[in-house]
Amino acid sequence: MNFHILTLFPDMVMDGLNTSIIGRAVNAGLLSIEAVNIRDYAFNKHQSVDDYPYGGGAGMLMQAEPVYLAYEAVAEKIRQTGSVPAEKKLRVVYLSPQGAVFDQNMAEEMAREEDLILLCGHYEGIDERVLEEIVTDYVSIGDYVLTGGELPAMVMVDAVSRLVPGVLHNDVSAEFESFQDNFLEYPQYSRPEEWHGKKVPPVLLSGHHANIEKWRREQSIIRTYERRPDLFEKCRLTKKEEKWFKEYLDGE
Ligand code: ADE
Repeated sequence: MNFHILTLFPDMVMDGLNTSIIGRAVNAGLLSIEAVNIRDYAFNKHQSVDDYPYGGGAGMLMQAEPVYLAYEAVAEKIRQTGSVPAEKKLRVVYLSPQGAVFDQNMAEEMAREEDLILLCGHYEGIDERVLEEIVTDYVSIGDYVLTGGELPAMVMVDAVSRLVPGVLHNDVSAEFESFQDNFLEYPQYSRPEEWHGKKVPPVLLSGHHANIEKWRREQSIIRTYERRPDLFEKCRLTKKEEKWFKEYLDGE
């Protein structure tokens, strides 16, 4: 999978993504990540890419033309590889607090793309006209306002990359984790068996796989109920689990 990040701060993005699992996946050729500096497409001699908003108001706006030229350069390169059918519209994500809130389903859907172009705004935003022309998806990473789209782009690249086959080495762990069927992950323990007076739950030392699975499932249910009641609303329990959970709550 190939990520193309249009940004005024390419070092920030590349420095953040070239370590650990994502960096390894890039080195192994499973992913490619390029940061394209929008400033390289400035069309005036001062290399400025921002200007005052018409109608007044605080701050500066990123101008349409440098963003468009940066996009065109990337689009041309992708088209030249021949990996995308000519009639297919390229996927361009604009990171913005006005977008749909990013979640695991969106990450799974994006992981099916071969190329993803991520557009990072800065200052007060980007001239609306170029957004209308190139953007296919508006995505927010949460209901708060950051100084730019770079951190959100990095969040997206990380969440999508780990779903690309081979990136995690062990494909099972991409499946069994938080947000599988909306349940949060169960608690996990490693050595030693006792730490600060706290013992590892005995069932995990029992070697009894069915009991371990049952305990983990129950812990996921309890945890989701307690920590993310909003997710719990969407969870499906079996009849047996519902009965057990009712008894558990009654005993609390
Ligand atoms: N740019 C600024 N804030 C953002 C957010 N919360 N999500 C995505 N892009 C942003």
